[in-house]
Amino acid sequence: MKTLHVDLGSRSYDIQIDPGLLDRAGEKIRTVCPKAKRLFVVTDSNVGPLYYDRVKASLERSGFSSSSHVVSAGEHSKCVTELEKLWEDMMEAGLTRTDAVVALGGGVVGDLCGFAASTILRGVDFIQIPTTLLAQVDSSVGGKVAIDLAAGKNLAGAFWQPKTVLMDPETLNTLDDQTFSDGMAEVIKYGCIADKGFFDFLCAHPSRTEITANIEHVLYTCCDIKRSVVEEDERDTGRRMILNFGHTIGHAYELAGNYETWTHGQAVSAGMVAAVELGVKLGVMEHNSEIATLSDLLRSFHLPTHIDCDWATMEKAVGLDKKSEGTDITMIFLREMGQALPTRMGKKAVLQSLRAS
Ligand code: GLY
Repeated sequence: MKTLHVDLGSRSYDIQIDPGLLDRAGEKIRTVCPKAKRLFVVTDSNVGPLYYDRVKASLERSGFSSSSHVVSAGEHSKCVTELEKLWEDMMEAGLTRTDAVVALGGGVVGDLCGFAASTILRGVDFIQIPTTLLAQVDSSVGGKVAIDLAAGKNLAGAFWQPKTVLMDPETLNTLDDQTFSDGMAEVIKYGCIADKGFFDFLCAHPSRTEITANIEHVLYTCCDIKRSVVEEDERDTGRRMILNFGHTIGHAYELAGNYETWTHGQAVSAGMVAAVELGVKLGVMEHNSEIATLSDLLRSFHLPTHIDCDWATMEKAVGLDKKSEGTDITMIFLREMGQALPTRMGKKAVLQSLRAS
């Protein structure tokens, strides 16, 4: 078992990574929620049938009673209608302030369940059991929870740290290749922004089979980078912005495809290449040979390195970006591979440079 401690004072917690951990979820949760009697498990229509019975059996072995709430799989469930149903169901199940809620699934389940946990009864304990690669390396760690609004993704949310994050790498074996690749975009991002050695390791293991053979090392390395960033900037006002490498331009690609044509991972993949190209063009990154290395690595996981986007959509996405302040935006470039370079720029200058590309 590999364990990482996220040090956030009274909101500190452990990330635990171990094959077969699903069957020990109850004992792990008992140590962080000693008073809880009931656990309310939120899952989705894909993950529930695969793993809920095992988790429930483990919870019962540790003396918890449990209820489950299943949402339909997909981003459409991260909405205010599902949140309201979830709140009502939690109350119907008899959830009290000493009980806890458990997110069993990918990023949608974690975000929806976490936001419900942050608000129900003015906040109850919350446990993350992420089952996708993207959720394990990114969304389950760091306490960002949210739902989408018509105005945009993740616009209503909170910072609500979990009591623990339980990762069973064996759950990744049931992911389809596309969903695995989506997670790989975020894995590759960590190498780009913070760890050249890890980036080189990924280049030397450019297939799902090779990554799976080293999955605990991959999960640990990504979560360790995220841990250090979140410890330094829990509320996302400074260093945490580096986690958005590839995301500003990526959001434009997601928007251009109406959130249907391109997955988040695909959009981030092409967004990272575009950000590096822009960095080279602006002279903040010297060696444009990195573009080819990054593109080859992304392609080996069947991720796109270029996405067409109309100009109006690009302007809208850059304008709406959550890292913008007035007329400025913090773009995340790379000083070199393995070293993120946050750069405050006028939005107009970003758009002009992108347009001239
Ligand atoms: N996914 C970006 C963050 O947690 O800040």
